[in-house]
Formats: sequence, C-alpha cells, structure tokens
Amino acid sequence: MRALIAMGERTASHVQALEACHAVLHGTGVHFALVQRPDIDLEPADPAHAHDVLVRVHGFSCNYREKGRLLQAARREGGGYLVLGSEFAGTVVKVGAAVADLRPGDRVFGNGAVDATDAHPGLSTQRASQELQVLPRAKLMRFPATMPFATAAAFSVGAQTAYALVRRLRAARGDQIAVTAASSNTSLFAIAALVARGTTCTR
Ligand SMILES: NC(=O)c1ccc[n+]([C@@H]2O[C@H](COP(=O)([O-])OP(=O)(O)OC[C@H]3O[C@@H](n4cnc5c(N)ncnc54)[C@H](OP(=O)(O)O)[C@@H]3O)[C@@H](O)[C@H]2O)c1
Repeated sequence: MRALIAMGERTASHVQALEACHAVLHGTGVHFALVQRPDIDLEPADPAHAHDVLVRVHGFSCNYREKGRLLQAARREGGGYLVLGSEFAGTVVKVGAAVADLRPGDRVFGNGAVDATDAHPGLSTQRASQELQVLPRAKLMRFPATMPFATAAAFSVGAQTAYALVRRLRAARGDQIAVTAASSNTSLFAIAALVARGTTCTR
C-alpha cells in the first residue's frame, strides 16, 4: 500500500520514493514522498479483530495541526518521518466477525468523536494517507453515495467540531451570532451549522 510521508533532508536522502516534492514552510525545508509500505490485512475470524474493519482509503486530508507535526519531523536532528493524514474517506474491504452493520463496498469516513465513555476517543487515525486501515467499527461512519470521496475526506472533523460547538452554544432560532476567523475551515463549518439552526451569523 502507498502512504504520504513528510521528513527533513537527512531522511529524504535515503527514502525510496514513488514520487517526491519539496517545500519551504516557515523557513524549514520539508520533503514529501509517496512511499510503498507493506500491506496490512484483517482476518475476520480472529477474535482480536472481531470489532474491526479493513478499509481501503480513496481520499485523505491533512488538518491544521499537521503543519506543526510535520515541521517537528522535518526539524528533528535524529531524522525520521511522519505519515500524513488526519481524515480519510474509503470503502470497506472486510469486517470482523462481530461487525453486523457494515459490509464490503460501504463508503465510510472517520468518526472523530471525543467521547470520554468511548474506548477510542478522538481521531480514527493519524496516518490517514495509508491506503489500508484496520480500525474499530466505532471509529467509522457511513456517508452517502452522492458525496464525492474528496469531499468526504475533509468533512468529518470540521462537521463534528462545528456541531459540538453549536450544541454547547444552545443557540435559538433568531439569535444573532458573531463568528471570528470566518475564513477558517472550522468557522465555515460552524457558520453552516448555525445557519441550519435558523440563527443569523455576522462574520
Ligand atoms: N476538535 C478540535 O479540537 C479541532 C477541530 C478542528 C480544528 N481545531 C483547531 O482549530 C484551529 C483552526 O483550524 P482550521 O482547520 O479551521 O484552520 P484553517 O482553516 O487553516 O484556518 C486558520 C485560521 O487562522 C487564521 N490565522 C492563521 N495564521 C494567523 C496569524 N498569524 N494571526 C491571526 N490569524 C491567523 C487564518 O486567517 P487567514 O485566512 O486570514 O490567514 C484562518 O482564519 C486550529 O488550531 C486547529 O487545530 C480543533
């Protein structure tokens, strides 16, 4: 399977890349490479994977936080690399024996819900660019066939964050809300969620 990695010069000089490019971010040279990694698989009868799902990723995206993480990787004196990707959209390949509500071909993206009662709170994966993922069923959500993979791959974190904010705000129909940093992804999702609730937003 392929994956997209970021690293500094030292590591890039000995990585076998399928494709590569280079950029300067905040004065630091960052190398990006598409690399081949060993495939992973899921044995449906394995009790350890009873609640897991093997997903083939068709689209992924990087979030704001990744800029900091990839700069750290590029600046690390000891070298090393970061596998990129905070969100993904893909299709189900196989399911564990206890997964009854998903089947091969279903379209899924990550469920990044931060629920302290959940066994796996937070992002589904921090390596979303890996073409194959084995993830707990609870960390996946279906999305409709009308939603393109590229859109779905950049949807769940923004939507879940915005709806969590709006729920806590307890805004009522007709309320007027001022949204700061209105050019940001998170604010744009929040504005859409607020408008859907019948509030008026000022940017
Ligand atoms: N669940 C969560 O906890 C969660 C989820 C999503 C995001 N976040 C966090 O929310 C923040 C925004 O994420 P995002 O995806 O919405 O990012 P984004 O789309 O890249 O937007 C970044 C925003 O920050 C502004 N900005 C950047 N540099 C600035 C500077 N030096 N001074 C003032 N403003 C500056 C940008 O304004 P311009 O467009 O004018 O440059 C833009 O409005 C990040 O810290 C992210 O980690 C948290």
